[in-house]
Amino acid sequence: MEKRMILGILTLTTMMGPSGGEDIVDHVASYGINVYQSYGPSGQFTHEFDGDEEFYVDLEKKETVWQLPVFSTFGSFDPQGAMRNLAIAKQNLNILIKLYNYTAATNEVPEMALFPKSPVSLGQPNTLICLVDNIFPPVINVTWLKNRHSITEGVSETSFLAKKDHSFLKFSYLTFLPSADDIYDCKVEHWGLDEPLLKHWEPEIPAPMSELTETVVCALGLAVGLVGIVVGTVFIIQGLRSSSASRHQGPL
Ligand SMILES: *[C@@H]1O[C@H](CO)[C@@H](O)[C@H](O)[C@H]1NC(C)=O
Ligand SMILES: *[C@@H]1O[C@H](CO)[C@@H](O)[C@H](O)[C@H]1NC(C)=O
Repeated sequence: MEKRMILGILTLTTMMGPSGGEDIVDHVASYGINVYQSYGPSGQFTHEFDGDEEFYVDLEKKETVWQLPVFSTFGSFDPQGAMRNLAIAKQNLNILIKLYNYTAATNEVPEMALFPKSPVSLGQPNTLICLVDNIFPPVINVTWLKNRHSITEGVSETSFLAKKDHSFLKFSYLTFLPSADDIYDCKVEHWGLDEPLLKHWEPEIPAPMSELTETVVCALGLAVGLVGIVVGTVFIIQGLRSSSASRHQGPL
């Protein structure tokens, strides 16, 4: 069994609130989340703002990769800074592994949710969002199935997003064209699971109402409305009577 450990260091979190961020926090920026693990070994360097990824550093290509191209117009980041941080994290991890006598990290059980980005209408391009939460350690495969077959086209994903409890969150996206015949699954493989976890999604197509059903619904609606009018009238009459009666019994 491979030894797995993870260490996050040098997480600089800036909180911005109206009163200097004492009680109310409007925004949270995490500028420099460093993750390094002996599995691989692999690492990750990201900046986050309010829980969204701003960029990660591609450690192979030594490049800053912005989550949305427009973000790069607001700033720049030298990828060398990330390389330096991760080199330090690697050293520290090696020291800690020995200090903790090669104890492997505990695998958590990830959780999943699958939902469309926008209200679905057939033939309108949309995106399926697969949210995987409580990921630890950050080693995972998130893949997509269309009609039970693996697909890769139209698929993208975020980096591992940091959480307060030191687990991670990841979003995987699939752009798709909703059709009545296509069904989708998001599949997660993780050491915390005995077998891959699948979440299913298919468009909900409202069954067309038969003419009889329509007539029955219409008649019921009409009946409920009429009963309401009758009951309302009775209450109004009762109310008028009791108020005139109380006026007669008044002290004057
Ligand atoms: C470290 O682990 C080894 C093997 O599991 C064990 O024999 C040894 O006693 C441990 N050392 C400490 C300091 O816990
Ligand atoms: C992810 O997929 C690869 C390739 O199929 C496999 O070798 C690896 O064990 C998978 N990882 C996990 C965490 O299941």
